[in-house]
Amino acid sequence: MKGIILHGGHGTRLRPLTHTGPKQLLPIANKPMSEYCIESIRETGITDIAIIIGGLGSNKVKEYYGNGEKFGINITYIEQDEPKGIAHAINLCKNFINNEKFLVFLGDNIIQRSISDFVENFQKSNFDATLLLCEVDNPSSFGIADVENKKITKITEKPKKPKSNLAVTGIYLLTPKIFSIIENLKPSWRNELEITDALDILLNQNDNLSFEIITDYWKDTGTPHDIIHANGEIIKNIPEYFYGKKHENSKISGKVLSGKNSVIDQNVTIQGPVIIGENCKINSGVIIGPNTSIGNNSIINQGNIENSIIMENCEIDSISKIRDSIISNNSKIIQSDKSTDEKIFLLGEGTKIYL
Ligand code: DAU
Repeated sequence: MKGIILHGGHGTRLRPLTHTGPKQLLPIANKPMSEYCIESIRETGITDIAIIIGGLGSNKVKEYYGNGEKFGINITYIEQDEPKGIAHAINLCKNFINNEKFLVFLGDNIIQRSISDFVENFQKSNFDATLLLCEVDNPSSFGIADVENKKITKITEKPKKPKSNLAVTGIYLLTPKIFSIIENLKPSWRNELEITDALDILLNQNDNLSFEIITDYWKDTGTPHDIIHANGEIIKNIPEYFYGKKHENSKISGKVLSGKNSVIDQNVTIQGPVIIGENCKINSGVIIGPNTSIGNNSIINQGNIENSIIMENCEIDSISKIRDSIISNNSKIIQSDKSTDEKIFLLGEGTKIYL
């Protein structure tokens, strides 16, 4: 079997973070979110993977993943000129897939559970598709599957009046049958070729779709809030390690991970889950956590940072508490006034803020 990762799109809901790169490269627990997709796929034994790229961030994706060798896979890059829909992107891979069954993974979907058993079962089965469904609180934001008597009866993209709360996750097991359906598909109200429309047609043709319901953690990281939430959950799941140095008078509790050459000074308080990258400096008096990541080469001079993502090469000096924030690479927050009100930030790359 082969795999496809969707790494295109404009990431509009995540601006300004996505002005300088694709959303799928935004870090979760200090690693690009699409790298978790690659790990999930590689674990199933699939190593031939097409990555759909498009627009502004394409070069960054190629730079990071290269030919895939470092990640134990072979990557074929396929350009999508405009984000014309998930089904459009899949159809660009027709020649790459040839006549095999295949797995599609949306590059902004994070799943903690292994998908190897689903792939194995699909490979052995005669199903035209297998979908992974997951209960959600806001069904109008997803593709939704109506299920009756253990069968999918209808698949609708972002229904206004959803009949079920079972979201179709962005992990699809498909056969080449889908290609002829996509070729005849009409664009939806959002002017995209929807994979959900193609799947609904496939369902009506042969009624030969199966599904699995995931009860483990799954997230579509569409908004800053989703990314921050996924960050905390993923840190909780990483096996413990600590390669940095911590002063004996620092207070560290819960799961706190640190990369090489990072130094935690005296009187620092860190409440896990927290991940600190390599070569970071956490200075005296700083409070970090829970649910926070600090990227490589970042310095926290002064601050109380909770439920936030600080990326690489940042410098933070703030007497106000920073919470629920995402601060991109090479940003600086510099303290000058004495206001201690809490602050919330969504900072694109290279931002400088003087407080
Ligand atoms: O995450 C699950 C949901 O993903 C499903 O429940 C929906 O049925 C499905 O349509 C999709 O909904 P979104 O509105 O969240 O899709 P989004 O536009 O965010 O695109 C999903 C991923 O695919 C994202 O990583 C960007 C990429 N993409 C998207 C489009 C439209 C492309 O690479 N090319 C595209 O043309």
